[in-house]
Amino acid sequence: MLKSALSHPNKALVIYWGNENDMLRTPTRSSLSVTLQGINHPLDYIVSLRTIGASEHDKIIIDGIEDKGEIRSHFIYHLNAMRRYTGFKEKLEVTTRTSFPVGSGLAGSAASASALAEAFAGLIGKTEDTRLKSIMARRGSGSASRSVFGGFVMWQKGNSDDSSYATQLFNENHWDLRNVIAMVSSTPKKIRSIEGMKLSKRTCPAEIYSEFVSVANHHIEGISTAVLERDIGKLGALYEKENYLFRQVCLKTTPPLDYWTKVTDNILNKVANLRNDGVPAYAGTDAGPNVHVFTQPNYVERVIRTIQEAEGILDIIHCRVGKGSHLIEEHLI
Ligand code: PMV
Repeated sequence: MLKSALSHPNKALVIYWGNENDMLRTPTRSSLSVTLQGINHPLDYIVSLRTIGASEHDKIIIDGIEDKGEIRSHFIYHLNAMRRYTGFKEKLEVTTRTSFPVGSGLAGSAASASALAEAFAGLIGKTEDTRLKSIMARRGSGSASRSVFGGFVMWQKGNSDDSSYATQLFNENHWDLRNVIAMVSSTPKKIRSIEGMKLSKRTCPAEIYSEFVSVANHHIEGISTAVLERDIGKLGALYEKENYLFRQVCLKTTPPLDYWTKVTDNILNKVANLRNDGVPAYAGTDAGPNVHVFTQPNYVERVIRTIQEAEGILDIIHCRVGKGSHLIEEHLI
């Protein structure tokens, strides 16, 4: 049997950073994100999954090359977690193709793990079971639990494997919000998110980390209302507040997790200046130096023109609110 799925990354407006259970990836706080579909550059991750019944081992082919290293281990770990959860026994051949700029730090793990979970759900006849798909995606990468859905998505932290999954708050047609991504670096991060968040949970002073955890539901409530009302000012203020808190948690981690570069700082300043000129543009980052600017369609050109002036910028990706993971008929095998 053969199934293929396509998925996109997502950008957290309320961020996930730390697990209560690292093996299950049940998080310390709930989070909220928007799924991203590239306009000037596709941000697609495609996975084809084929059963290879009699084989002893899974086979992993990444962009045409059989992988025997770290990526293979990660995929097999994820496949095993999904097999255990569902009782599916067969060995699988995984083939992937990505259209992301290589090593871009653009939440490729969210897109890849959700595409894998979607294709796996297709194989076991559970495509309609969004809760199961989100749980299975989460086991590969926490943020992937959200890319199963399009639009604006909340991941309820829950307190067990079965209760920690995402749901859609508003679909991709609710609001034409835009995200302009300023690509600042194309080198992989020194400390992967999963390791960084473990460090933060262990070493960030309790009063800072617990404030970060406890304010999440309040921020989710505020951002949900802002999305409901399509109020960019309200959304942007909370998004930047979240970003500030996340930055504090990272900087107070030992050793400090300083993901920004001078170019990041420069772009953040430029966006703040744009706002002083009356442009509704709000900037934040992830665990990396790239900057995500949220704005409205009629301001995109102005935002792009402004951030293009920053020295050291590599590329600009313009995104709209995207669809969730879904099965496709185009197979890679
Ligand atoms: O899903 P992971 O393990 O790649 O972690 C991603 C964490 C952030 O992107 C930094 C935040 C988030 O909520 O997406």
